[in-house]
Amino acid sequence: MLYTTLGKTSERVSKIAVGTWQIGAREWGWGRGYGEEQVVQAIRRSVEIGVNLIDTAEIYGGGRSEEVVGKAIKDIRESVLIATKVWPTHATYNGTLKACERSLRRLNVDVIDLYQVHWPNPLVPISSTMSAMEKLVREGKVRYIGVSNFSPSQLKRAQESLKSQEIVSNQVKYNLLERKAAESNFSTFGDRITVLAYSPLAQGLLTGKYSVHRRPKDLVRGINPLFDTANLRRTEPLIERMRELAKKYGCEVSQIALRALIERENVVAIAGVKDAAQAEINATSTEVPLSQEVVDELFHLARDIKIATLLPLIKTPFRLVESLTS
Ligand SMILES: NC(=O)c1ccc[n+]([C@@H]2O[C@H](COP(=O)([O-])OP(=O)(O)OC[C@H]3O[C@@H](n4cnc5c(N)ncnc54)[C@H](OP(=O)(O)O)[C@@H]3O)[C@@H](O)[C@H]2O)c1
Repeated sequence: MLYTTLGKTSERVSKIAVGTWQIGAREWGWGRGYGEEQVVQAIRRSVEIGVNLIDTAEIYGGGRSEEVVGKAIKDIRESVLIATKVWPTHATYNGTLKACERSLRRLNVDVIDLYQVHWPNPLVPISSTMSAMEKLVREGKVRYIGVSNFSPSQLKRAQESLKSQEIVSNQVKYNLLERKAAESNFSTFGDRITVLAYSPLAQGLLTGKYSVHRRPKDLVRGINPLFDTANLRRTEPLIERMRELAKKYGCEVSQIALRALIERENVVAIAGVKDAAQAEINATSTEVPLSQEVVDELFHLARDIKIATLLPLIKTPFRLVESLTS
């Protein structure tokens, strides 16, 4: 495992983290339907290999994800950092304090290592959320403060309203094909803020197992523009090159995708997993000896791919009906 530090702190964090947003999602009718026990095993296998960051959120599975994470780490609490998130509609001062209490209870822990604001909420002054965050740190209920899906200017405003704490991370979508949010962070903050890269495998597309002939069945991916036919075709040259590299290094395509992404010092990839086998593949991706030259080549290839979002968006209602009726 490779490690980096969280923001400007000295906290050591693994470059591969585990994401758990699919836990409980089946009940919502749009999830990938993973078994809870399998995800527990996936978390535990990841930790055995050296992963020490588990990401969840109060919204995932309506709280079920936090409960399952709590169960998975019960006897290994000291080996992991738990990151969870307050949902934007709870992000008022009192709402944040209460949401944190509920998360602590569901996780069955005394302290949340990284508490993140899941999305900015234009209706709630960020200063209120951040005051609550600082209170939680003072009370020892939270160790570090993070944000998610914040633009650099939103992050700056959040930082300015903190009196004694620093924001350590911004969790944004970042994979070879979707780079915009992370890159705007890099250009504004350099390596000072850790970028927690969500959907680092482009929801499974960058594992090489999906194509126009084999699409994922769940609703979330059914409406993701990346899985639109034209976009899938556009990504083929990149995936093909990743396949060649995987063959050369005797590894999986997904490991190439993760290894390339975490080459940058301040990036941690939060990969979603369905079982221990996927967890093991992802956690060991740090061992793939990709050179900087190959990483640059992959980013270069990816930059040449123009993902269309407008047409897939227009098709979304039809896809929704298709997914719900199939
Ligand atoms: N902050 C936010 O707003 C936000 C938003 C989204 C996600 N996240 C976080 O990021 C985490 C990951 O995001 P994500 O699940 O959307 O995307 P992802 O990590 O890019 O993709 C995960 C999916 O890829 C497949 N997969 C994973 N490892 C694999 C392997 N080794 N071999 C083959 N297939 C593999 C699995 O799906 P199948 O096997 O079913 O194909 C898995 O569910 C979430 O759990 C969550 O913690 C945060």
